[in-house]
Amino acid sequence: MLIFATNNQNKVDEIKSILTGLIDVCSLREANIDIDIPEPHDTLEENATEKSRTIFNITGKDCFSEDAGLEVIALNGEPGVKSARYASEEALYKNNTDKLLHQLNGVQNREAQFKTIISLMLGGKEYQFQGLCKGIITTQEFGENGFGYDAVFIPEGSNKTFAEMTMEEKNKFSHRKKAVAKLISFLKDKKWEELN
Ligand code: IMP
Repeated sequence: MLIFATNNQNKVDEIKSILTGLIDVCSLREANIDIDIPEPHDTLEENATEKSRTIFNITGKDCFSEDAGLEVIALNGEPGVKSARYASEEALYKNNTDKLLHQLNGVQNREAQFKTIISLMLGGKEYQFQGLCKGIITTQEFGENGFGYDAVFIPEGSNKTFAEMTMEEKNKFSHRKKAVAKLISFLKDKKWEELN
């Protein structure tokens, strides 16, 4: 059993849909851990480490965390590590998406990428895995599914936004899926079964 160090239910659902039948994952809520994990750093890598270390220090158990962000070329990589707090500290997904579309109003270059960093704490040692998904930012929102910037991001190789896809379709492209694939193959190499 691996604890997934997040309070974001969308992320829990996505990760569980990928790991079903492979690795048992339990969320912080399911592990009865009520904690708001800070994201004080300037990089996804450092924030991911902060989250997994925090949970490992509390529980002493193997766990992993994930930090993700959207990097837009024309905005010099913004919102990046600030993706969740782009419009303000208390921003809702809709506020952030509105701000992004506003910043890109009239901008020709719509290239962007989602980046996920997974930090795995296994036996007290940390391992990181990265997943990237390149795509473009639309000029308006399309679709109702997903979360965050899903309604304005079309991944390379598709003509639909993430928010117009089922979770299964999104998993064919997603940054999170790619990082999790690396996590899975690492755990398989480590003979995960034997570790439990
Ligand atoms: P954090 O990893 O919890 O810091 O969240 C980063 C922010 O990036 C989220 O609040 C979303 O706004 C955005 N984000 C991360 N992954 C995705 C995704 O798969 N789709 C849409 N937005 C995402």
